[in-house]
Amino acid sequence: MGSRNSVAVVLLIMMPVLLVSASASASASLKVGFYKSTCPSAEAIVRKAVQKAISSNPGIAAGLIRMHFHDCFVRGCDASVLLKSTPGNPSERENPANNPGLRGFEVIDEAKLQIESICPKTVSCADIIAFAARDSAYKAGGINYAVPAGRRDGRVSKSDEVAQNLPPPVFNAQQLIQNFARKGLSADEMVTLSGAHSIGVAHCSSFSKRLYSFNATHAQDPSMDPHYAAYLKTKCPNYNSAGRDPTVVLDSRTPLRLDNKYYVELRHRRGLLTSDQTLLSSPSTAKMVSNNAKYDSLWADKFAKAMVRMGSIDVLTGSHGEIRRYCSSVN
Ligand code: HEM
Ligand SMILES: *[C@@H]1O[C@H](CO)[C@@H](O)[C@H](O)[C@H]1NC(C)=O
Repeated sequence: MGSRNSVAVVLLIMMPVLLVSASASASASLKVGFYKSTCPSAEAIVRKAVQKAISSNPGIAAGLIRMHFHDCFVRGCDASVLLKSTPGNPSERENPANNPGLRGFEVIDEAKLQIESICPKTVSCADIIAFAARDSAYKAGGINYAVPAGRRDGRVSKSDEVAQNLPPPVFNAQQLIQNFARKGLSADEMVTLSGAHSIGVAHCSSFSKRLYSFNATHAQDPSMDPHYAAYLKTKCPNYNSAGRDPTVVLDSRTPLRLDNKYYVELRHRRGLLTSDQTLLSSPSTAKMVSNNAKYDSLWADKFAKAMVRMGSIDVLTGSHGEIRRYCSSVN
């Protein structure tokens, strides 16, 4: 074996270690109460803006929790998901995983505007997303936790990077475990965070293959309760008339309540996405689903911890990045 080959082999062996060490381990550099002296009302302003928005549209809670996930999995939690495209550079925001569908941008903008007026260039957009996700979990599920802060905003956002990092809804349990492991998150954290699908909606296009064209031998996904499939077909007729793509709630039992009923529904084979129902297909994740279905407060506790871990993926701190003036564009 030539020396270049052996270097390549060493790099390959080290790769998982390097990937993991670069991801969710940075939490030590973030601090709870980071803005205590520089902008003491920052978190209260975000909480108020989020509560007001959710009161008039409950779906915003789902949007903001998902926004934090989509931010953190692509280039780390650096608010890259908020940047608008510039000439010649389509941003994450334009990727089909985010557009249409991702909601709550105006809530972040509103909170940022208020914060800028009292403490200019101090509070990052990435931290505002993390606070807003927490406040959404509180409003929709009574789940509260302290958010370590001190993230700084990135200056790069590329549409292409979304598909390379976010898991698609057709992934199976093994693929989901691997995808989260690349970000330093465990299988249990993956299953726990999937509980966010206890609120919010999905477009028919995200799951209609399960209803009409599953595989060569089954038109319908046999892992789905046939009654549930029949109901979904009424919501998602199998035609592709231009622009029509209705939405269905992810958790049909308690669609507006962030709770463990999502896992109960999975056990009744009423998971909406392949990536939801697949959690029952491997014995190890099925066990986690059962536990979460049984113990709501244990799940809520794990959810809070996993959100904090997700919120520390590849963060920019110290003098890296910048504090944006406007969340939708770099300074
Ligand atoms: C495990 C891998 C995951 C996959 C494959 C996945 C995929 C999806 C898809 C396809 C949708 C529906 C999009 C649409 O059709 O409009 C969705 C919605 C949603 N996802 Fe996930 N997701 C995953 C994990 C997560 C995580 C970790 C969170 C947050 C912690 C999250 C939060 C949400 C929320 C709240 C919604 C509803 C959004 C709304 O109503 O606006 N998801 N997800
Ligand atoms: C179709 O899916 C079923 C259930 O998952 C599976 O048993 C079968 O082998 C699949 N058939 C093909 C042709 O992939």
